[in-house]
Amino acid sequence: MAHTKNFDVIILGAGAAGMMCAIEAGRRGKSVVILDHAKAAGDKIRISGGGHCNFTNVHCTSKNFLSENPAFAISALKAYTPQEFVEWVRRSRISFHEKTRGQLFCDGSATEVIWMMTSAMAEAGVTLMLNTKIEFVTHNDSGFSVETSEGVFDAKQLVVATGGKSIPKMGATGLGYDLARQFGHRITDTRPALVPFTWPANMIETWTELSGVSMPVTAICGAGKFNEALLMTHRGMSGPAMLQISSYWREGDAVEIDLAPGRDMAAFLKTERSARGKSAPANILSEVFPKRFAQKLTETFAGDAVRLADMGNAALEGLVNGIKKFTFLPGGTEGYRTAEVTLGGVATDGLNQKTMESKSVPGLYFIGEVVDMTGHLGGHNFQWAWSSGAAAGRSI
Ligand code: FDA
Repeated sequence: MAHTKNFDVIILGAGAAGMMCAIEAGRRGKSVVILDHAKAAGDKIRISGGGHCNFTNVHCTSKNFLSENPAFAISALKAYTPQEFVEWVRRSRISFHEKTRGQLFCDGSATEVIWMMTSAMAEAGVTLMLNTKIEFVTHNDSGFSVETSEGVFDAKQLVVATGGKSIPKMGATGLGYDLARQFGHRITDTRPALVPFTWPANMIETWTELSGVSMPVTAICGAGKFNEALLMTHRGMSGPAMLQISSYWREGDAVEIDLAPGRDMAAFLKTERSARGKSAPANILSEVFPKRFAQKLTETFAGDAVRLADMGNAALEGLVNGIKKFTFLPGGTEGYRTAEVTLGGVATDGLNQKTMESKSVPGLYFIGEVVDMTGHLGGHNFQWAWSSGAAAGRSI
């Protein structure tokens, strides 16, 4: 049996938040070990942003988060800003671009961000232990003890950065939640978020044929409202609009979709009816929508009208309503298998918002996705990982 190894800080999880915390604590002269059961650090960074890592959003504020208390994020986001991370990326000579709405992506591979972080960890003297299975954690007056497949590690401070439950195939586990419970922390309900919807039974047969169709929409559900792209897939509705709104959706809810945002479809169709009444409704609609989708809309909302002129005002209104207030009742979601994040987590009222330290167990910290702080799509989740990781790392 190997000897117990002593460090100032043990970090569980070598993901975005854990690495950031390790770097900041290491730079402050702390001896840090980071333990992970994965073969490599930062696996989710590697696959993020379609392989280009949307590493932050320059407009990120607490308004971009869902949580029992989104304002909890304010201190950490102000203390470690998107600009600070961007400066680091620049200094590391990683080229990047703004895709849209403040979303910054690497021009090259997401692995450049992993390289930037693992190099900084090495410089800061952090010990990275991969392929390390965590068996259990105990706590006494002198600190924390973590029993692992590679021996026992002791430290005064323990940082839990094990992420959420999304994509179990990549090593996501509920360890962080289990530890939070073990130390008496409350967990808010967890569920998959930023996740595609599946077709309900009554749409499976007829709507899968639209797979690949994409268009800008406005999607509304509960308190969420997003102007983004919708993408039809074989399995359901996806694309940024649906991923975003999925974080607000609950089983049984309808998602209301404006399929022609910013467009007065009633005025458009009435003008067309006067000017080109002999045209088929689908032909007129194909000036606004992809052809296949225009056909589907007419089948669904224009009855058997052959010409636009056959449609009276009430029928036209029905079609306009179908387009402007399309009601989608999802069958469900793809679940944790493909969800980008986990909604909910360690309740923020048990943590110090400046340091992420437990209010009840001194020396214990929770950072990153395991905390009840879930960002919108577009770089906000990584920014939370960087900011919460830095908050803990700088205060340890
Ligand atoms: P993260 O999941 O990164 O790290 C947790 C670490 O803990 C992992 O290394 C894991 O192996 C380890 N671990 C877990 N359980 C363990 C156990 N029992 N024992 C030992 N180790 C354990 N966000 C964004 O802002 N921009 C983007 O472009 C994307 N893109 C994206 C794509 C896809 C496909 C996904 C799934 C997610 C994204 N995200 C994203 C979200 C982003 O990846 C996520 O919010 C952060 O990685 C969270 O960072 P954490 O460090 O908290 O967890």
